[in-house]
Amino acid sequence: MRVAQNIYGKEGEVLLRVGSELSEGLIESLRKRGVFAIEVEEENKSYAVEEDEKVDIISRELRSEAEEIVMDTWNAALEGKSFSMSKIKQVVEEVMDELLTKDYAFLKLADIRALDEYTFAHSVNVCVLSLLLGIIKNYSENRLYELGVGALLHDLGKTIIPPEILNKPGPLNNEEMAIVRKHPAYGFSLLCQEPDIAFGLALIAYQHHERCNGGGYPRGLVQGEIHEFAQIVAIVDVYDALTSDRPYRKSLLPYEAVETLVAMSAQELNFSIVKIFLENVDIYPVGSIVELNDHSTGIIVSVDKSLPVRPLIRMLVCENNHYVSTGTDINLMENNTLFIKKVLGINTALADKLL
Ligand SMILES: [Fe+2]
Repeated sequence: MRVAQNIYGKEGEVLLRVGSELSEGLIESLRKRGVFAIEVEEENKSYAVEEDEKVDIISRELRSEAEEIVMDTWNAALEGKSFSMSKIKQVVEEVMDELLTKDYAFLKLADIRALDEYTFAHSVNVCVLSLLLGIIKNYSENRLYELGVGALLHDLGKTIIPPEILNKPGPLNNEEMAIVRKHPAYGFSLLCQEPDIAFGLALIAYQHHERCNGGGYPRGLVQGEIHEFAQIVAIVDVYDALTSDRPYRKSLLPYEAVETLVAMSAQELNFSIVKIFLENVDIYPVGSIVELNDHSTGIIVSVDKSLPVRPLIRMLVCENNHYVSTGTDINLMENNTLFIKKVLGINTALADKLL
């Protein structure tokens, strides 16, 4: 097996370069460094990924710092110690500063996934995406800050759930489910123990599993009763969970997760916030390599925001394990019999080369 993307350590250093052959020893040393899942090249599916690099929405150093602070907070909570709220506040401020100084035409949701998966990546993703939604909704800096801290710590109550239940690879039985469903209340009470905690911030932990139709937990609140911060975090939490690998299923591609969100926005999630989310989602980013329903392959070269599911595609053929352009473009806006069947990968470097 060969590595499909560069693998980075916590300090942003390259641990393994793309294309490196994996050995038992290398896998073991990656594990020791906290890297538990990586992408490997599929046989005969190499599409010159060596020149592609996913761009993260925040700097790699800041992501590592944020994940480390979430980890320290979790460890402190596990040991029943108080945690450093000042460090958490500082890192959220840094994330806000990075996001507020960037100009987004689109939320590059496809880029949000960390290059490698480790334990606290989800909390940081939820924080970043919630803040982006808050920025689009024109929140004041003070509200953004409360939203960011609450989002970063939304699952803190899981520290009180026994790890054998939390990490169980299969489905949970009713009794285990009832225990897991206590994590919002646990998180709320942990946060309320901290001095000077804003109530809305703590409500994120308490209400992020509530659903607009009253079908959520712990209290079965309905839309008007759920704090807007918690409604934002609920959407982002669902999206990020769907696009992450879980022990029992592979991650969904962004457009599949988007379809799930649309379905859920009918009853469970706040429709107007989901709409903002979708208006800013890059469903098929430029550089996506896609398979069409006639089994042909192409790369997305441009996307019309008004109809993002019908992009302009440059057709490709595979030669010596590398995709090359056939020189033909197909505009799905003008061709109603063709549609995208699946996304094979993303290669922005190849898209740049072809444009
Ligand atoms: Fe949760």
